Amino acid sequence: MPINDEALDVLFRNARTHRNWLDKPVSPALLMAIYDLVRWAPTSGNCCPARIVFVVSKQAKERLRPHLDEGNVTKTMTAPATAILGYDLDFARNLPRLSPHNPGALDAYRKDPVLAETTAFRNGSLQGGYFILAARALGLDCGPMSGFDNAGVDREFFAGTSVKSNFLCNLGHGDPSALRPRAARLSFDEACRIV
Ligand SMILES: Cc1cc2nc3c(=O)[nH]c(=O)nc-3n(C[C@H](O)[C@H](O)[C@H](O)COP(=O)(O)O)c2cc1C
Repeated sequence: MPINDEALDVLFRNARTHRNWLDKPVSPALLMAIYDLVRWAPTSGNCCPARIVFVVSKQAKERLRPHLDEGNVTKTMTAPATAILGYDLDFARNLPRLSPHNPGALDAYRKDPVLAETTAFRNGSLQGGYFILAARALGLDCGPMSGFDNAGVDREFFAGTSVKSNFLCNLGHGDPSALRPRAARLSFDEACRIV
């Protein structure tokens, strides 16, 4: 059964990218609820490479600040939470548990770091998309951002690990009065073909 029109509006048609936030907190329980949905969405061979850091405290936000592009500083510092969406290059170590029906997978990725990186980035990005939709489904607004220094964020938040940052996503309740008019999207004929 398709989900109803109201739900489609929440997820897609009325959902906007927010940069100004209402003074309304986002609880740790809600952040956990986002991941509790994200984890069920599909990745190749169930590799589940996404790793997420929720930056909430003032101190942690200050660690993020120097790595943000200037235009992203205010919107990030004022957001109730900022998620760092990362991907683990060594996601394969979990495959014996996550993909028990595919016993050769761990070795295949260990032998081919380029394949491992491509797989981690592709599926981590997919999980980032699922993340935005899950947050929206739970009543939150999102402000995704790639305007930051990935290497700096990796040093600050992922030092000594095999995790790399992909993009950031501010989370909260957006101020609809601050939105600019919505930009156009490509039509079906411009973006798609049925062959
Ligand atoms: C991966 C990604 C990176 C983005 N990077 C930035 C950014 O660095 N700064 C910013 O203000 N907006 C950023 N955006 C927001 C987009 O410009 C915005 O989602 C798009 O224009 C659609 O706007 P709408 O959702 O309001 O229709 C980013 C969006 C995505 C998905």
